[in-house]
Order: sequence, then structure tokens, then C-alpha cells
Amino acid sequence: MKLWEGKFHKELDQKTNDFNSSISFDSRMAQEDIEGSIAHAAMLGSCGIIDKAEAESICAELKQILSELQSGALQIDPQAEDIHTFVEGELTARLGAAGKRLHTARSRNDQVAVDIRLYLKKQCGALSGQLGSLVGVLCKKALLYKETVMPGYTHMQRAQPITFGHHLLAYAEMFLRDLSRLTDTKKRMDVCPLGSGALAGTTYPLDREYTAKLLGFAGVTNNSLDGVSDRDFCMELASDIAIAMVHLSRFSEEIILWCSWEFRFVQLDDAFSTGSSIMPQKKNPDIAELVRGKTGRTIGDLTTLLTMMKGLPLAYNKDMQEDKEAIFDAVDTLRMCLTAFIPMVDTMKVLPQNMRKAAAHGFINATDCADYLVNKGLPFRDAYRVTGDLVAECVEHGLTLETLPIETYRKYSALFDADVFDAISLDTCVNGRKVTGGPAPQNVEAQAERILQELEEGRI
Ligand code: ARG
Repeated sequence: MKLWEGKFHKELDQKTNDFNSSISFDSRMAQEDIEGSIAHAAMLGSCGIIDKAEAESICAELKQILSELQSGALQIDPQAEDIHTFVEGELTARLGAAGKRLHTARSRNDQVAVDIRLYLKKQCGALSGQLGSLVGVLCKKALLYKETVMPGYTHMQRAQPITFGHHLLAYAEMFLRDLSRLTDTKKRMDVCPLGSGALAGTTYPLDREYTAKLLGFAGVTNNSLDGVSDRDFCMELASDIAIAMVHLSRFSEEIILWCSWEFRFVQLDDAFSTGSSIMPQKKNPDIAELVRGKTGRTIGDLTTLLTMMKGLPLAYNKDMQEDKEAIFDAVDTLRMCLTAFIPMVDTMKVLPQNMRKAAAHGFINATDCADYLVNKGLPFRDAYRVTGDLVAECVEHGLTLETLPIETYRKYSALFDADVFDAISLDTCVNGRKVTGGPAPQNVEAQAERILQELEEGRI
């Protein structure tokens, strides 16, 4: 039985029904659909558009349907066209005429628009909570490893000394931006489209603000056409999610590298890695690889949404039914990835000696050696040249800047004294980088503490 079958002479073809139906994926919005209907019915009653007692019985029965769905006493009919049809059909089967009044001054177009907003607002909150936990884990680890020197890389070549704590805080910054993007998106999503009707509003004297308030929206949409055909918030959320996944993916890539014997900077806990069916020595970073792999599907979800919307005339078009699978997949993917990723990072064993070893053999203090000469009055370009020659000399003799004799230093510049060894020690190099945003342990500590404090106070 279709809601619209009045003017049709035939039942919808079965295969076409399957094709047209969205119940297999929009039933996850059952709660939001029912909450939206309860608010609508209450408003209709309070504005005198339907009888108050009838409105009350509609609301009570809708609550009953919700609790039966939650307990499993009521099953969703897989043949239904969509969740809106199913709920209204169930209500009407139970209440008769009163049930038939629920759809007064409403369309499935504004109904679906309200359901998705309600559902995604909750998801934004849940994802923000997970991102907040991840940032917390990173800040706590950054405090533990604020003095752990490691090589920083550019072009995957050892470049300059940083600390592991500083490296972790770089990711904390990315996830904080992701969090703030979610907060922004949620704000723009937080308007109620009910009352837009199919597209042109309605002649009934609705109180849209009343419904919006009951549903916890901050306001109402300003234009009925836009109210039913706007899916910016889906595209925006999918974009936020794709960006967050790209961050997780970059982090995963580094963890995969760090776990390799070539780096050996970290070791994943057994609970978050897997073995090989044939190679007994293997411990694979599968979780990180899966997160990296799943990033592709969220980029695909964003592309699906953008492409689906780009040619649509106003107002509602059935193409828009495709919004749900894409945005749900994006939300589910980020949630699942964070659920696995957070404890994996939390339990990962850090191997500071290996980091330090890698830092000691890549001439990552060469810039500091040049800076030493600059401090003694040599122009930077000349200092750069002298240091380059020193590095070449080291490479030729299998030495490092730390093990090169002072006499050799002085052959290249009389400005060198024995204090150069202190100036190029990795700890001096890191401790001296006190510039705002730099890796000096005191900076990392202050930054991590500040973020943890803000998280604790609920300011992020
Ligand atoms: N299942 C539809 C969707 O997800 C609900 C809105 C249908 N409206 C309509 N006029 N066909 O978009």
C-alpha cells in the first residue's frame, strides 16, 4: 500500500519497488522520524489545526511505536517505500482517522530534510567526542615524550631535530581543526525545515518556531524551496569527514613506516596488530593500513554527494534519496576508524633509543652548525657553505659532525671552537627551538597542557 496510490491503477512493479525504496537504509532514522512527527503533531494540536485530543493520541501512539521498535516487538517492513511511509502506515493502522491527520501541512520532502538534520546533528556530536578523545590521548603522549628527540623529515629525508611529542602535537592540531569544522557544520545544520511542505510552504497557520523548539533546533529555515532542497550540510559533513580521514590516513602511513624494521620507532600492541598466515616473524599494522585504505571511500562519499547535487533544479528531486547512503557511510567509516585507531595509538610502545639513533646519523644538526657560525659573525650563506664542506668531509671519512675532530673544523673556519660540540648536540638543537610553535620541550608541554585543560573544561 503506497501513500500516493490513489490516482494509480496498478501496484508498483516488485523490482521497481526494490529500486525505488529507501527503507533498507533510511530505517536507521526511525527515531528521528518519529520525534519529528511527534513535534509536528503537537504543533498541529497546539495551533488548533487538528483536534488537541487527537494530537495527543497521535503523540502517545508514536511514542509507543518507537518503544516497540526499540525493544524489537515491532519489525520494520522491508517492503515499505521508506521510513516515513512505514511509520505513518503503522500509526494509521493503529489509530485510523487520527493517524491520517498526521500528514496535514507536511510533505515527505520537509520530513526527510528534518530527519537527516536531526540524525546528523547527533552524529556530529558523537564524532566530535571521539576526536576529542583522540586529541586527549595525543596530548598525554606528547607530555610523556616531550624530550624524546627524533629526526623531523622533509622529502622523507632526515632534516632537523624535533621531538616525538612535537610530532604528535602536529596531529593534535589537525584533529582539533577537524573538530571545529564539525562544530561549524552542526551550527549550519541546526535549522528546522518543517513547514516548507513539498516546496511552497503551506496555507495552514503553522507555528514553525514551536516545532523547531520542540525538536531542539536553534531556528527555522528561511525559504521553503531551500528548506527542502538544501543538502549543503551533507556535503559539508562529508567534506569534514574526508579531511579528518585524510589526517588519520597520513598518521596511519607514518605509523606503518615507524613499525617497520627500517625505522623501528614504535611497536604496536599485540591487541592492535595481526600476524601472517605463512610468515611467523610478521606483525602487521593492519588497523593503520585499513584506516588508510578506508579514507578512499569517504573521499568517494563526498564526490557522490557533490556530483549528485550539482545538476539538480529546485526543489526536491528523487536523486536526493542518494544522499543518505553516502553520508551514512562516511559517518560510519570515520566512527569505526576512530574506534580502532584511538586505542591503537594509546597502547603503542614508543622506542626512544631508535628515534635518537636515527637522529644521530642524518646530519640533522647541520643547520645548527651553520647557525653557530652565524652567531660568531659569519653571513649565513658562507656559514651554509662551510657546513656543507664539513658534511662532505664527514661522509668521506664515515664520521658525524659530533665525531669530527675540532682540528678539522678549524681547517674550514677559524671561528670554530670546542663549544661547537655543545651547540650541535641534539638536545641543544631541540631545546633552543623555543620559537612559538617550535619543538622545545617547554613549548610542547605548555601546548599539550593548554589543550588538555580546554578539553577538560569542555571548551573544545
Ligand atoms: N525516501 C525519500 C528520500 O529519501 C523521501 C522523500 C520522498 N519524497 C518524494 N516526494 N518522493 O529522499
